[in-house]
Amino acid sequence: MTEFVEIFEVGPRDGLQNEKQQIATADKIALVDCLSSAGFRRIEVASFVSPKWVPQMADSADVLAGITRANGVSYAALTPNMRGFDGAVAAKADEIAIFGSASEGFSKANINASIEESLARFAPVAEAAKGQGIPVRGYVSCVSDCPYDGPVAPERVAKVARDLFDMGCYEISLGDTIGQATPERITAMLKVVSQEVPVEKLAGHYHDTAGRALVNIEASLDQGLRVFDAAVGGLGGCPYAPGAAGNVATEAVQARLEALGFTTGLNAQVLEKAAGMAQAMRTGE
Ligand code: HMG
Ligand code: MG
Repeated sequence: MTEFVEIFEVGPRDGLQNEKQQIATADKIALVDCLSSAGFRRIEVASFVSPKWVPQMADSADVLAGITRANGVSYAALTPNMRGFDGAVAAKADEIAIFGSASEGFSKANINASIEESLARFAPVAEAAKGQGIPVRGYVSCVSDCPYDGPVAPERVAKVARDLFDMGCYEISLGDTIGQATPERITAMLKVVSQEVPVEKLAGHYHDTAGRALVNIEASLDQGLRVFDAAVGGLGGCPYAPGAAGNVATEAVQARLEALGFTTGLNAQVLEKAAGMAQAMRTGE
């Protein structure tokens, strides 16, 4: 039997958040509804952050209210603080994510807090989610390089990953935020991080700026990772990470995984259709 590798679709959130031109809520809903029939188990569709910081995500509650929820799909939302958590709960997000950084420079630029301050903000969110039985995912950004501080030591990644895991995150997604990692550095980082968090609780979240996301995924597979985040159509970037290109494209990850002999459970035709919709949004066509 072929082994399953899960692709966690982040296009409607990580993919779209960076688009300057405001995308119609109805178009976002149509994209999510299309993705819902592709075979994903989890789709990140919303972000309850300050609309002044990320205007594109201001309609997150409307997106969650407007989608047709498919059985067996968990619709996820980012929540940086208690206000975001309350918004996500009111909008009936199935799971939430708290997002920290392994580098101080990015933490400050992205969420206006030091790493320590951010963890103090996340703790009550994780606690409240636990109380309501809502699963929490944890992100660590800049697991290889920071746009402000340069290369990031694996030990720093391991420390934040461990802190988020200890807070109750069911999975830690490791972000190569500016897509500069190499397979060698990803391997070295994962060897250190997996001493703190079990490898089956880790996911790879690689941006494709330097065109190495797929080889970085292969290196991660060798280290035992079986979950990867990707955005349909290769949309994406982060408004607070200058130079960050799109997330690795879901359809490219699916093709590579299947060529390597893994199964993803995804329908390539639906992905192709969703990629077309996503790309049309990017160009405003
Ligand atoms: P702050 O300015 O330090 O916080 O921002 P504040 O508490 O002083 O609030 C400032 C304003 O935001 C206030 O409004 C608050 O009410 C409002 P004002 O009084 O000025 O009108 N506010 C909120 N509004 C809506 N929802 C909320 C919320 N919280 C406060 N939840 C804050 C701190 C975290 C809010 C801000 O820095 C922020 O929103 N940052 C978001 C940045 C972001 O979304 N970045 C992209 C996602 S992360 C990413 O892409 C990386 C990832 O993909 C992994 C990877 O690739 O590495 C996950
Ligand atoms: Mg990202």
